[in-house]
Amino acid sequence: MLEVIFLSLIKAIWILIPAGTANIFPPLAKGKRPIDFGLKIGGIRILGDGKTWEGTIFGYVAGVIIGLLLLYLQPFLNTIFNPQGIFLPQFTLLIVLIIPLAGLLGDMLGSVIKRRMKMERGAEAPMLDQLDFIFGVILFTYTLIEYTMTMILLLVILTYFVHRLASFIAFKIKIKKEPW
Ligand code: CTP
Ligand code: MG
Repeated sequence: MLEVIFLSLIKAIWILIPAGTANIFPPLAKGKRPIDFGLKIGGIRILGDGKTWEGTIFGYVAGVIIGLLLLYLQPFLNTIFNPQGIFLPQFTLLIVLIIPLAGLLGDMLGSVIKRRMKMERGAEAPMLDQLDFIFGVILFTYTLIEYTMTMILLLVILTYFVHRLASFIAFKIKIKKEPW
């Protein structure tokens, strides 16, 4: 039981590294051009000013670079991990290109939901703020990565806490406007 949890946790971390990178980097771009071009539906912004072209491109490029690094390191890590019975989800170029995009799209869907719920940009939406991007990743890579229920559960729990911690730090060092 404990071994299954440990092995699944390692796999979850492997997926979270490029996904989280794509989610952490956008605020650093200090983007000014909203993806939704300021467009409204029913008098309410589609995405809001918190989703910009600069942030999205920066996050995507950062996520792909880190993903490529993992792809490059994987054969070497496999030679160390496999004899221990640890098998990382096998990345491919396609997976590396999809994960950051899926995360950014998931995050945007989160914003669409927040706007429809009449929440201002940056308003706190517990769980949604932390988990929207990882649900995007799981959805888009569901047929490409061999997920187990344990892996998904751990990925979600891990993402929640890593996102909380990363956002708090980003807030403290004035990269993010809100601590969530
Ligand atoms: N950001 C960006 N482009 C993205 C995602 C994020 O430019 N695709 C930047 C924005 O400056 C945003 C900050 O990162 O304000 C923090 O991202 P997030 O917390 O996801 O957005 P919020 O500002 O909280 O907006 P929302 O209420 O829509 O979630
Ligand atoms: Mg936010």
